[in-house]
Amino acid sequence: MKILVIGKGGREHALALAASQSTLCTELFAAPGNPGMAEIATLVPIDDNQMTELADFAASNDIDLTIVGPENALADGIVDEFAARGLKIFGPTKAAAQVEASKDFAKGLMKKHNIPTAGYQTFTDYDAACSYVKEHGAPIVIKENGLKAGKGVTVAMNEADALEALKIAFDIPGNSVVIEDYLEGFEFSLIALVNGENVYPLECAQDHKRVGDGDTGPNTGGMGSYSPVKKITPELVEETMETIMKPMAKALVEEGCPFTGFLYGGLMVTDKGPQVIEFNARFGDPEAEVILCRLESDFVKAILDVMENKEPELVWTNKTSHGVVLASEGYPAGATKGAAIEGVNEVDGLVYHMGTKMDEGRLLTNGGRVLMVVTLADKLEDAMANTYEEVKKVNCDKLFYRTDIGRKDLVDGEN
Ligand code: AMP
Ligand code: GLY
Repeated sequence: MKILVIGKGGREHALALAASQSTLCTELFAAPGNPGMAEIATLVPIDDNQMTELADFAASNDIDLTIVGPENALADGIVDEFAARGLKIFGPTKAAAQVEASKDFAKGLMKKHNIPTAGYQTFTDYDAACSYVKEHGAPIVIKENGLKAGKGVTVAMNEADALEALKIAFDIPGNSVVIEDYLEGFEFSLIALVNGENVYPLECAQDHKRVGDGDTGPNTGGMGSYSPVKKITPELVEETMETIMKPMAKALVEEGCPFTGFLYGGLMVTDKGPQVIEFNARFGDPEAEVILCRLESDFVKAILDVMENKEPELVWTNKTSHGVVLASEGYPAGATKGAAIEGVNEVDGLVYHMGTKMDEGRLLTNGGRVLMVVTLADKLEDAMANTYEEVKKVNCDKLFYRTDIGRKDLVDGEN
């Protein structure tokens, strides 16, 4: 089969790597891909938001299956475009992708279908939002509507921070916010392969979203992750499936926008059981990098089976994967670009490219999150030690990383 992966980040690198290992894959393309993916796929110089050009490419090159990575392409309707032209593609339609693109849509659906999530209210008016915050007090969570690459969320532990977040949000004309109750608990990510009402969970991962050690500083797209998450027992996964993932898939079917693709549950285990922090319409990043490298069975076959409503075979290694993101100085507020990176080939582990570019044979930084180094070991603490040993081999004075991804106190000491 000829397979096309759309996107250019670490998630897409992980999707492409998993696809390249399938016995069904005879030729792999990535659009636009990245320098890391160039080793396993033919790079196609079409950006991930150029829907028509991508569909033209898939049609004229007899692509048998397209796998979509980024949320923007999904929210723009790339799946609708491909489907209208009879091209096979794994991902949600524009309507179904609203589970991520519109917090308001997702929260409304959860409320209507009794899917456990934090209480919330939507505001389009700055003064009304401020009054609500003053009435409710902190901690409280402010979320800007729309796609924000994980960065439009403020978990305000005091009222002043909440009001400041509102001020920033409403500085953007026409912006609206969702204000949520604060949930306390253990956070994890569960990504499922979904087709209509059929929902098959992959192994869980935990992402570390804050930029700084000890879970401090602003939220990012994710600074590191590991899988599996021992604290998330099979019973908890089962409960999450029955109370959250399956009901959401069913809700989307009932709303007339059935979901196909990777449904990402950002979840919190609270004293009232698992609750939803957010849904995403695609694989997580940096979750894909630590989950897919643990899959021993055929990834492409699993996708094809799900698309035909057959139960996929999913076999996982017992090993724990652990990964650390190397980000550019200034991230998440901004990012330096164009700094030379050396030593990537020395790393004994997986190196996913998140934001790099090649310039006359030199690898350069090219975005906020730049590389992710992942290693596997029997235990999390060993994988953690390995990854941090390997990360040192990457040389670039404009990159930084968290030094505590997977640390015992942050993962509840049970892995
Ligand atoms: P989101 O982009 O919605 O996933 O939010 C980013 C991060 O903010 C999450 O991963 C959580 O750590 C935190 N967060 C979001 N919503 C809540 C909430 N209601 N209560 C506590 N923390 C939250
Ligand atoms: N790692 C969080 C996300 O992909 O949204």
